Amino acid sequence: MTTQLVKCPTCKTTITVSGEPGEKIFLTCPQCNQKGAFTIPGEKSAKTMVTNSATIEVNGLTKSYNHFTAVNNVSFTVKKGEIFGFLGPNGAGKTTTIKSMLDLIHANTGTIKINGIDVRTHGKEAKKNVGYMPEKVAFYDNLTALQNLRFYAEIKHAPKEECIHLIEEFGLGDTGKKRVGKFSKGMVQRLGMARAILGNPSILILDEPSGGLDPRGVVLIRDKILEMKKKGTTIFVSSHILSEIQEICNRVGIINKGVLVAQDTVEGLSKKLNLKPQITVTIDSMSAKIENAVKKLLGVDSVKTQGNTLEIVCDGAMKAKVILAISTAGGNIQNLQTKEPSLEEVFMRYTEA
Ligand SMILES: Nc1ncnc2c1ncn2[C@@H]1O[C@H](COP(=O)(O)OP(=O)(O)OP(=O)(O)O)[C@@H](O)[C@H]1O
Ligand SMILES: [Mg+2]
Repeated sequence: MTTQLVKCPTCKTTITVSGEPGEKIFLTCPQCNQKGAFTIPGEKSAKTMVTNSATIEVNGLTKSYNHFTAVNNVSFTVKKGEIFGFLGPNGAGKTTTIKSMLDLIHANTGTIKINGIDVRTHGKEAKKNVGYMPEKVAFYDNLTALQNLRFYAEIKHAPKEECIHLIEEFGLGDTGKKRVGKFSKGMVQRLGMARAILGNPSILILDEPSGGLDPRGVVLIRDKILEMKKKGTTIFVSSHILSEIQEICNRVGIINKGVLVAQDTVEGLSKKLNLKPQITVTIDSMSAKIENAVKKLLGVDSVKTQGNTLEIVCDGAMKAKVILAISTAGGNIQNLQTKEPSLEEVFMRYTEA
């Protein structure tokens, strides 16, 4: 904090101003009520650059390998406390984006800020509270799981007692003296997730964390992600398991051939693509009257009849009216299922060749 004396340009009264170097202070002269602004001299420190609630801000990121542009002018923000899903087909540029976000590879153009801090210029500070799980998880092969985690705990200044708990939590408690070089892919993956959350980071960046995991492992990672979110952790996760992303993510970004083609909630993206829910209704006895009652409703796109079952595609807002129309036309409903547009449909549409 710096204190400066400034003179009111109108009445020349001296005013005391305090703030961080580079901070703009808005003032009202106590003598003549003249309003004005004064910037405290000096360069902004990395800490004073924290300005908004976006935890990760990627702006105009482009990364080329020789003449091939792997990521092309990608911009997005991840808000504090949300889970942001990053989707895209193989080779779309997910890992390249993630590595650039952490400045593990140097982007050609663009800025990346974590908690308002520029990753390129203040890397150490920007990444201080970030847990990262890379696509290809690697450890010291000749050390055990516990020895490896203790090593990283030291680097991260995390309590060493956490290591043993994490090893138990990730189902590696019985690996004992087994060296990580002898671990299966799934076991290494679990240890990779344990390392990412070591030290309770405020931001987690996970590149396909469920790759190579059995169903129990997938659930374990998903539950851990949700547990971290409850604690307030901001999570950026790339995945190809669409149903999983749909279940846990607040928002998703879809990258295709290096270009970010969409960024919204799953619901928002479905709306933009005009994807509609499908209702499947089974009644005890079908009649033309029931079919026609549904078909003539505004907002109903299609009606398919199979025996006593109707498959109806309609606007989301029409669902209740469809049910009411069936009932009013004499249909006795035996079973009812609603299928909302899935992330898979959204993904397929946005990543069409
Ligand atoms: N070191 C490299 N040198 C040259 N090209 C690279 C390099 N790394 C990645 N690429 C290319 O950049 C493109 C994006 O690769 P990236 O690994 O970012 O894709 P991805 O979306 O993570 O794919 P996946 O789902 O398969 O993990 C691909 O065409 C890939 O071949
Ligand atoms: Mg990848």
